[in-house]
Amino acid sequence: MTEAFFTLHRGLDREGPGEAEDVLWALEKAGLSGAVRVLDAGAGPGADSVTLARALPEARIEAVEAHPGFVAEARARLAPFGDRVTVTEGDMGAAAGPFDFIWCAGALYFLGVTEGLRGWRDALAPGGVVAFSEPVLEPGASGGARVFWDGYPGITDWAGVAANAEAAGYEVLATRRLQGAPWEAYYRPLAERAAALRPQADAELTAVLDEAEREIALWQAHREEVIYGLFLVRPVSGEGEA
Ligand SMILES: C[S@@+](CC[C@H](N)C(=O)[O-])C[C@H]1O[C@@H](n2cnc3c(N)ncnc32)[C@H](O)[C@@H]1O
Repeated sequence: MTEAFFTLHRGLDREGPGEAEDVLWALEKAGLSGAVRVLDAGAGPGADSVTLARALPEARIEAVEAHPGFVAEARARLAPFGDRVTVTEGDMGAAAGPFDFIWCAGALYFLGVTEGLRGWRDALAPGGVVAFSEPVLEPGASGGARVFWDGYPGITDWAGVAANAEAAGYEVLATRRLQGAPWEAYYRPLAERAAALRPQADAELTAVLDEAEREIALWQAHREEVIYGLFLVRPVSGEGEA
């Protein structure tokens, strides 16, 4: 991540599409409560860690994030929760657990769905589950939606993401379609920040702003079709343990 990229992204509430309701949906579907141990993998600036900490007041929440700037932001906003919430700078693929719940919003693709989930099998406690959001291309998506995802590694449909999870030895328990509002929650503040930075931007920052605004405009034009699937999955014993 370049300094110019972080100049644009510094201080934003979140770094990808999602809302608190999405986290709460996953907790409810998973039946999670009490003194559980939770990982927020690729936590960014920690918006979902805050939701997890509020929704699970007895839980231990561990956020892991690779970028030091986001780690600092997440630590600052999670400090009020005290010792039961920690933020570590590191690789989510190396998380040890055992976790009852791994939450991963818009970050699993860095590891690959199959590779990442396979790696987390050993990090899950018995009965533990994973919830992750991942781009999904729906049948009949327009050329514009396909352009939006152009260059995204392994873009596929609902069944394709499920198959990638199953290849790691998981079963899909529930899915949720993230369209519209969760994207607005990410892109609206980003667009406002880009507009505010534009007048004094140097050439490098201008290029970053141009790219962000191009992406946001493409999303606006195809916002009905640009979606994340939120997948709640759990390991099937004996499968995918290669
Ligand atoms: C699209 S952002 C989503 C951030 C956050 N989950 C949210 O929704 O606001 C993906 C995040 O994953 C982080 N990331 C990528 N690879 C990682 C890894 N191997 N370990 C930890 N974090 C990683 C990136 O630095 C980035 O902050």
